[in-house]
Amino acid sequence: MPRLLIKNAKALVGTFPAGVGRVSGAAMAQLPTIEDGWLMAEGGRITALGSMSSFPGITEWSDLQVIDAAGRYVLPGWCDPHTHTVFAAPREEEFVDKIKGLSYQEIAARGGGILNSARKLRAMSEDDLFTQAKDRLENMMRQGTVAVEIKSGYGLTLESEVKMLRVAKRLKESLPLQVKTTLLAAHALPPEFKEDRQAYIDLICTTLIPLVAGDGLADFVDVFCETDYFTVDEMERVLEAGAKYGLPGKVHVNQFTSIGGVQAAIKHIALSVDHLEVMEPTDIDALMGTNVMATLLPSCSFFLRIPYAPARQLIDRGLPVALASDHNPGSTPSGNLNLVLSLACIHLRMIPEEAITALTLNAAAAMQLESELGSLTVGKRASMIITNEVPSLAYLPYAFGTDHIDTVLIDGKPVRSGTALA
Ligand code: NIG
Ligand code: FE
Repeated sequence: MPRLLIKNAKALVGTFPAGVGRVSGAAMAQLPTIEDGWLMAEGGRITALGSMSSFPGITEWSDLQVIDAAGRYVLPGWCDPHTHTVFAAPREEEFVDKIKGLSYQEIAARGGGILNSARKLRAMSEDDLFTQAKDRLENMMRQGTVAVEIKSGYGLTLESEVKMLRVAKRLKESLPLQVKTTLLAAHALPPEFKEDRQAYIDLICTTLIPLVAGDGLADFVDVFCETDYFTVDEMERVLEAGAKYGLPGKVHVNQFTSIGGVQAAIKHIALSVDHLEVMEPTDIDALMGTNVMATLLPSCSFFLRIPYAPARQLIDRGLPVALASDHNPGSTPSGNLNLVLSLACIHLRMIPEEAITALTLNAAAAMQLESELGSLTVGKRASMIITNEVPSLAYLPYAFGTDHIDTVLIDGKPVRSGTALA
């Protein structure tokens, strides 16, 4: 692989010093940038960077790819720490039902929702699931995503949950982006266990978790802790079992109701609490002084027309916030993090620098990739976005719905080649 030199960048964005693993509160707005910058990469890693005024020059020109990024921003690639991107089929018929007035819960009660996806996934071959998800991830990479967390949760049987995680593992081996995987068997109660919830939780805790941990199929565990889905006690059991096998929690809490999920996740030292659309003051209080990342999913709020998470309050109280797509067929049929960037600014009232921090360093931290990705830092993976020529950084979220990306590099190699490479 040739060495890479990016020169004349309008700015290198997110040049956090080595060792900064996450950024909280007011510091999220202090996004370090180097104007008129250069960056070198070798062997897929960033080896040096700085401002053109102190560019040391090149002595060895052989095997060197030079990118002139004049007028363009260079950003760390987006990290997506919450997706359900392995699924069998879209659910646009439910989308139409929603337009006509049905709620997410009403659709679920009619056999739609997660159980609808589970029926289709159980019937689909591993190869077909793989081909579909690969196509989605390739699209996401072209939109700047360089790392993704993928959850199970549409299998809801031992075989099909493992099938989903095997597909995710194959994606990890076949694609250049970083992939982390999460066991979300507690996504909805499978109909087979309708009369015995306890037995399903037992299956997850005593069979599935040891199995997927042993086979290296999952990095994390997740539970949809919500009214009509799984209780706080049930989530606690899953988190405890996960912890026993070295799988930290990344949990769905407070999407529709506040039932104590945040507090229980904190008690079990979850890595992240995700969604948080419905937060009582006591829920925010509980997060203070903890190490739990608040991962917000504004495209889910947008699509379901549910409240947006109180990002402003979280940041103003000094907490760290990460952003993710929640890509899934039911609540967020988009894996485009550029849209998330705009929604975070427009609806969560995050300023562009905060939202970029939340989609890069904090998003990497929300899947334990902060030492590899999330900033332009010597030693990290050379996984970057080179934008089109745009007037300012704020222009990226401002001019929403327009593609501002020219080139995407993962580990120094283009996965999307624009004019900057010409
Ligand atoms: O994060 N809330 C639970 N899970 C997904 C939606 C799953 C579905 O509707 O298929 C979410 O929004
Ligand atoms: Fe989700």
